[in-house]
Amino acid sequence: MKNRLVLVTGGTGYIGSHTAVELMNEGFDVVIVDNLSNSEKSVLDGITAITGRRAFFEQFDICDKERLRDFFKVYKKLDAIIHFAAYKAVGESVEKPLMYYQNNLTTLMNLFEGMVEFKVPYFVFSSSATVYGQPDILPVTERAPFKPADSPYGNTKQIAEEIMRDAVNANKDLHAISLRYFNPIGAHPSALIGELPRGVPNNLVPFITQTAIGIRDELKVFGDDYNTPDGTAIRDYINVVDLAKAHVVSIQRMIEGKSKSNLEIFNLGTGKGSSVMEIVNAFEKSTGEKLKFKIVGRRAGDVESVYADTKYANEELGWKAKVDLEETLLSAWNWEKYVRNKKRSRLKTN
Ligand code: UD1
Repeated sequence: MKNRLVLVTGGTGYIGSHTAVELMNEGFDVVIVDNLSNSEKSVLDGITAITGRRAFFEQFDICDKERLRDFFKVYKKLDAIIHFAAYKAVGESVEKPLMYYQNNLTTLMNLFEGMVEFKVPYFVFSSSATVYGQPDILPVTERAPFKPADSPYGNTKQIAEEIMRDAVNANKDLHAISLRYFNPIGAHPSALIGELPRGVPNNLVPFITQTAIGIRDELKVFGDDYNTPDGTAIRDYINVVDLAKAHVVSIQRMIEGKSKSNLEIFNLGTGKGSSVMEIVNAFEKSTGEKLKFKIVGRRAGDVESVYADTKYANEELGWKAKVDLEETLLSAWNWEKYVRNKKRSRLKTN
């Protein structure tokens, strides 16, 4: 879509950067706001290298309401907002709950206040399948009830969806779509952008790639005594570029007036569950690398099995995950190699 400007908060982060690329590929103009608390400014160069265009960039914290108002005054012609900027580490949220509530909810409310005041009509929210906890029925549909959140992080996603519901009910000109991600993995096929975890990764695939490249000694597989075929926990791993494309489709849907209600909710997954050991095996197969791993006890707060019913997103949103698991794991591996090579050549030139 030409001459449409989308604000991507958290746009130098993992999913935000891939979404900025897909938006620009579809002709949207993009302005990224990020405080760089968990990402690097050089991600903007990766986005430019892929798309041949430069996104606008503003570095500030959306918790700063006055700064955000100034932003809205400058970028007057915003058509939509996609909101990724949030904290996302489950364990950290248990230790610092107030930091999580403060950041994840204040940013959301500040953006909604700005949308009302400056008449920005469309909003896409980065939600999570964590809102379902361990669902009673699998695959899980959008109608499955929220389970009590396992962590303050998960609770911020549940509360955020409630805040959005109330906000759009009170402001009929606003339309929002909440996208509940299952487990996003992989990187752009160019290997120019990808996930850049700081410190020890919490998530499975970055831990696998860092182990394969030699930064970590071995992968710890958390539990092999689940009630699953091989005993390890099952998740729905979705390619990050496929996921990014769903955001573009969501924006287009609202602009074209196709929304069925002011707040719509879609699951973003593949519909297929894979166990931790299946991921390990698929990684070895697609990359030819041997992975050192050890079975250890379960991780606190982990659910046994969760994967998406994708029917509603497939039929109503008209979006479907396409890239298969092995290709996705290979893209994560290529990205890991690219990052390490870049670090090595930086060390050499310094
Ligand atoms: C986690 C969060 C979830 C969040 C999502 C964002 C928890 C409990 N849940 O999902 O709320 O929305 O990340 O990406 O943290 N595993 C290992 N060894 C590892 C790492 C993971 O065996 O070193 C296993 C886990 O036990 C799990 C699977 O791999 O069975 C996936 O783990 P992870 O990538 O952390 O995702 P989730 O736990 O599903």
